[in-house]
Amino acid sequence: MSSNDSSVLAAAAQCPMHELNPMLPALLRQPWGMNRRLRDEAPIFQDPNSGIFFVSRYDDVVKMAMDPTTFSSKMLQSTRAMSGSSDPELLEIMAGGYPQVATMLTQDPPLQRRYRKFVDGAFSPASLKALEPFIESTAHALIDGFIDQGQCEFLSDFGVPLPLRVIVSQLGAPMEDLHLFRKWTEAFIGNLSQQLDRDGILAAARDMVEFQHYFVERMAERRAAPQDDILSKIVNASIDGEQSLGIDESLSMISQILVAGNETTSASITEGIWLLIENPEEYERIKRDPSPEMISNFVEEVLRISSPSSNMFRRAVKEVEWHGVTIPKDAILFARFASANQDERRFPDPLRFDLTRTNLKEQVAFGKGVHHCLGAALSRREMNIGFRVIFERLENFRLAPGAEPPSFAANALLHGLSGLDVSFDRVA
Ligand code: HEM
Repeated sequence: MSSNDSSVLAAAAQCPMHELNPMLPALLRQPWGMNRRLRDEAPIFQDPNSGIFFVSRYDDVVKMAMDPTTFSSKMLQSTRAMSGSSDPELLEIMAGGYPQVATMLTQDPPLQRRYRKFVDGAFSPASLKALEPFIESTAHALIDGFIDQGQCEFLSDFGVPLPLRVIVSQLGAPMEDLHLFRKWTEAFIGNLSQQLDRDGILAAARDMVEFQHYFVERMAERRAAPQDDILSKIVNASIDGEQSLGIDESLSMISQILVAGNETTSASITEGIWLLIENPEEYERIKRDPSPEMISNFVEEVLRISSPSSNMFRRAVKEVEWHGVTIPKDAILFARFASANQDERRFPDPLRFDLTRTNLKEQVAFGKGVHHCLGAALSRREMNIGFRVIFERLENFRLAPGAEPPSFAANALLHGLSGLDVSFDRVA
């Protein structure tokens, strides 16, 4: 941790509540102490800088997620590059692309349910079962790529490519285009991070327009010759005789599947390895019993602790009085899923990584209610299969010689390590 980060964290632990700035990079990287203060002292807290209301306790986050008529998700992709900027260069770039429309994540019922119906089939138990051999062979191929070196940068060598290859295969694109997907995901995430300068915003906008044109071509191919993948289902879906999705709607759904599905799963898989390194007793427990049940418990506890989708937007549809705070109509709120997952009222000793918790399944890393993650079952499968293959082939994970303890990236919506240099042994 840098000395600058330490002093920001120390100040945040003591300052009067109204002086707290929760969007400081040091606090986005290491939010745990601040989250506890917010849950205890200000369960509904208005960030004085952004004006956003932070909802931090488990019961309150669940209540908000279960009440979409009071707390709406409807907004355009909350992106500065896509929103009403008057920067002429940005507007020119955006004019070369397709307009943003609100679909699943950024839409309310009943429209939100309608959009989900178009893709539900692609995430059905039967479709996911059919994907299992691909997930397993991909995990093996990635390990083959670094096992002889005895060390790797786990995020880019395994955490990122496993879900990326799965989603690229499902979005009907060739593996040669993998690097493009990585670039586009980074553009969307960078944009969401609210940390980009003007050059970064313009570059992200260019990448997003490139993404749109790429998929307009892929969609035309899938319309002409459907395959057994998500893209064909999106392009050719029609429900109750209703017309299929428009190009703008399809692009919005594809971008959500790409962004929501990649960084999140990558972050959890990578933090899973770091949690093993930090918690040797729990690592031993899995070594003694690498059964599917134990690996499933491990995955749930990794999801709870990592909670990569840490904050999600809502908009108050009407004025709400909550814990003595007046939230005005149209105010923006954060449903703080990561903080909910650390709430000691629900998970005793919440920062402890503990595979024997009796309520592991109550974790809300995938959200709750109508917006509950579309890809939760896919992601769980990727993690369960990915970790099983890892435990079969690699052991004794530790920080690589000379590597510093890893640090988290500063992002207002997503939480994950920026890298993880590890050494390991080959299972004999
Ligand atoms: C560890 C991995 C993942 C985590 C932690 C995660 C987290 C979440 C959360 C918290 C929500 C609810 C958002 C809200 O209430 O506003 C959500 C929704 C969503 N997720 Fe995931 N997700 C993950 C993986 C995936 C994958 C693999 C996909 C797709 C392939 C995906 C696609 C989506 C979509 C499309 C939505 C919006 C659903 C709707 O609003 O109806 N996610 N996710």
